[in-house]
Amino acid sequence: MSDLGFRHRFVEGESGDGVTLLLLHGTGGDESDLIPLGQALAPGAALLSPRGRVLENGMPRFFRRLAEGVFDQEDLRIQTENLGQFIKNASGTYNLRADRIIAVGYSNGANIASSLLFTQPRLLAAAVLFRPMVPFVPSKMPDLKTLQMLIAAGNRDTIASRQETGRLVELFKSGGASVTTIWHDGGHELGQDDLGAAKHWMSQWLAML
Ligand code: MLT
Repeated sequence: MSDLGFRHRFVEGESGDGVTLLLLHGTGGDESDLIPLGQALAPGAALLSPRGRVLENGMPRFFRRLAEGVFDQEDLRIQTENLGQFIKNASGTYNLRADRIIAVGYSNGANIASSLLFTQPRLLAAAVLFRPMVPFVPSKMPDLKTLQMLIAAGNRDTIASRQETGRLVELFKSGGASVTTIWHDGGHELGQDDLGAAKHWMSQWLAML
């Protein structure tokens, strides 16, 4: 089978609810990285996990950056489009329920998930973003009233600061999204508390379907 535009892994769903987790790794990760996280968050859900197509010193990413926290906006735009096309391709190939795809992204993967939500919001039903930043400020905010999100931030994160998290939350809320924010008492790395809170949020989201 072709790679549908991104090298990826797909794990077929067994839960019967048609939910697919789109797993988006952080800088230096790959398509296998977040599979255990996806299995823990929503046991039995289908998992679609692409590898970012950009390399930074050999480390996969979903889009280029010019420096830490300074994003190459033209590349971000192109890669976001590519990822959107991949989701559409994969939906057809794997027979996914297009209205039940939820993004689960960490760091750079969370940032491209936000970019996707700002530009093609109908591709995702919900999002769990660990340590996200503001990828860009849309000139016109899309209607995000049906979007449910969890943002998991780190109190002492020096990459995605508290202020940056606050800006992102306000942006999503200005589009009408329902945003739950949780604060991990640490930095950019994930902790058990993140996992527990995300599992709890996910079980509530699944129960609403
Ligand atoms: C990014 O480049 O997307 C953010 O700085 C997070 C990271 O990947 O380090």
